[in-house]
Amino acid sequence: MSLKGEIDGVMDGVVNLVELHDRIKGIAPLSALTRIAVAVYDPERDMLRTFIDSTMGECPLSHYVARLGDVPSLVALARAGGPRVVDDLKDYVGDSEHSRKLLDHGYRSSYTLPLMQGDALQGFLFFNAATPGFFTPERLSQLWPYAQIARLIAVLELDKIRLIQAAVKTVRQISYHRDEETGSHLERMSRYGRLIAEGLAEPYRLSDEYVEFLYRFSPLHDVGKVAIPDSILLKPGPLDAPEYALMQAHVDKGRQIIDMMLKEFGMGQVPHIDMLHNIVAYHHECWDGSGYPYGLSGDQIPLEARIAAVADVFDALTSNRPYKKAWSNAEAFAYLRDMRGSKFDPACVEAMLQRAAEVEEIQAHFAETIHD
Ligand code: C2E
Ligand code: SIN
Ligand code: SIN
Ligand code: FE
Ligand code: FE
Repeated sequence: MSLKGEIDGVMDGVVNLVELHDRIKGIAPLSALTRIAVAVYDPERDMLRTFIDSTMGECPLSHYVARLGDVPSLVALARAGGPRVVDDLKDYVGDSEHSRKLLDHGYRSSYTLPLMQGDALQGFLFFNAATPGFFTPERLSQLWPYAQIARLIAVLELDKIRLIQAAVKTVRQISYHRDEETGSHLERMSRYGRLIAEGLAEPYRLSDEYVEFLYRFSPLHDVGKVAIPDSILLKPGPLDAPEYALMQAHVDKGRQIIDMMLKEFGMGQVPHIDMLHNIVAYHHECWDGSGYPYGLSGDQIPLEARIAAVADVFDALTSNRPYKKAWSNAEAFAYLRDMRGSKFDPACVEAMLQRAAEVEEIQAHFAETIHD
């Protein structure tokens, strides 16, 4: 069969890595392939983190985060832009820490491809097998078309998110400099949210995709503020009751913008897209039911919105706003603690407090600089 036929055939009915992996396991010489995974690269922090893993349930290496600089062989791979085979991770001394992690999870050999966009590293695609020497030239040539499809799946996933982000950025730019929320607020708040999600990942069995999408969608939580007049949004003092009522409408405006955008772009089918809707629609709900606009409580509020609420308020408190001075971190942490179980989901607060040192690192790194 021609390569194109092969790819069309496989793409037909294959929508994700798990299904692709199943398909590959159906090919006798490749049946012992145990894992396909994608890690995404964050150039800002030089961090690599898992994004999609075909082993899902068992998820042996999920929630993996590493500084790319600490894995020299991957740095070299990104530079060379080409693939790499490791026949036996036992003999492979390149990245001792990293290789040990893989060995601990029963992997003996690996095939790794960097995902590049031009010169920019997007991430890596990993294939692993439990036997040493699995990735022979024969097997690699059989695997090749599937590797291309895996690469396509990875790139498409990342592109979908980029498309949504680009659309929203456009919406935000239309509202130009009027918004008091800078790019760094959004960056910090999304990163705090990701820390919380990472802390909850084990007990709540959250996938790496969940954690990654939470991070990518969180900056859109207040997109509805574009519909709020300057006289309210930029008011230097406290809002009176009617003004606050108008301000609260940013949630519903945001929900409408997101839902319209998803419909326009035909993105309703994107996995985890409901998280975007949930973050925008429910980030001002409170654990005890006292929030707005719906007055939901506890588990009725989607987890991603409970997480975003803690992250958003912490950053709002520790930032200058036209209507208030920044609080100290100690005051803001104390506020989160006080509001455990009333305003906030206690588990989300706990997870954030556990990572206080990293919160402060993010804060220092993404200090107020430019106005978006
Ligand atoms: P924001 O500034 O991003 O604040 C997000 C949330 O952080 C607020 O939601 C609130 O829960 C918390 N927060 C922020 N600053 C303070 C504070 O000084 N004390 C306390 N206890 N909590 C604080 P909320 O109240 O629903 O407000 C939503 C948005 O409405 C705010 O987003 C802000 O844009 C605007 N807003 C709220 N209050 C005022 C105000 O007094 N004056 C002006 N000009 N805008 C306000
Ligand atoms: C993983 O994909 O689970 C780990 C990523 C890596 O090994 O770098
Ligand atoms: C490596 O082979 O160094 C990375 C492979 C993986 O993380 O799965
Ligand atoms: Fe908001
Ligand atoms: Fe905010």
